[in-house]
Amino acid sequence: MTEQSDPSIRPGETAVPLPDRTDAGVYFIGRIRTPWPTRGECPRRGDTANGPICTIEVDERWLDALTGIETHPRLQVLYWMHEARRDLVRQTPRGSEPIGTFALRSPVRPNPIASSVVVLVERSGVILRVRGLDCLDGTPLIDLKPDRGGTAAA
Ligand SMILES: C[S@@+](CC[C@H](N)C(=O)[O-])C[C@H]1O[C@@H](n2cnc3c(N)ncnc32)[C@H](O)[C@@H]1O
Repeated sequence: MTEQSDPSIRPGETAVPLPDRTDAGVYFIGRIRTPWPTRGECPRRGDTANGPICTIEVDERWLDALTGIETHPRLQVLYWMHEARRDLVRQTPRGSEPIGTFALRSPVRPNPIASSVVVLVERSGVILRVRGLDCLDGTPLIDLKPDRGGTAAA
């Protein structure tokens, strides 16, 4: 589909039909609380030095899975961009030429998985306070991992 038949597509953008079914299931393990209620208010990219402190609320079921996480000063956070469309294969970011979805970090992608490295400020039970996020308030959380800062991951 192109912009001629869908007014929500910008000039130069292309959509494809999505597959009939998904191939895997995902458990949302919590929610991310941020100061941003709309996409327009979110930063394009999180700022670990000067961004606001955001809260990751992990569901109580996963409490044991957090054991030891506070020993890691930086974490990779994976989250699900629940308000993003999934069918665009070519996109026109503001002021740019059309470019392929897999050449962008746009939230619009077949599987709207986002990742950010954050600084862990404090842990209290299942609540993590972090700096460096860029997502909407209420964004579903998929995973947390220690950030190895470019060294081989264990
Ligand atoms: C450019 S993406 C980058 C995400 C992540 N840091 C990455 O690199 O994978 C960040 C933008 O996604 C949009 N966004 C944030 N939360 C979203 C959500 N839950 N659903 C859809 N779009 C979202 C906002 O416009 C935000 O500025």
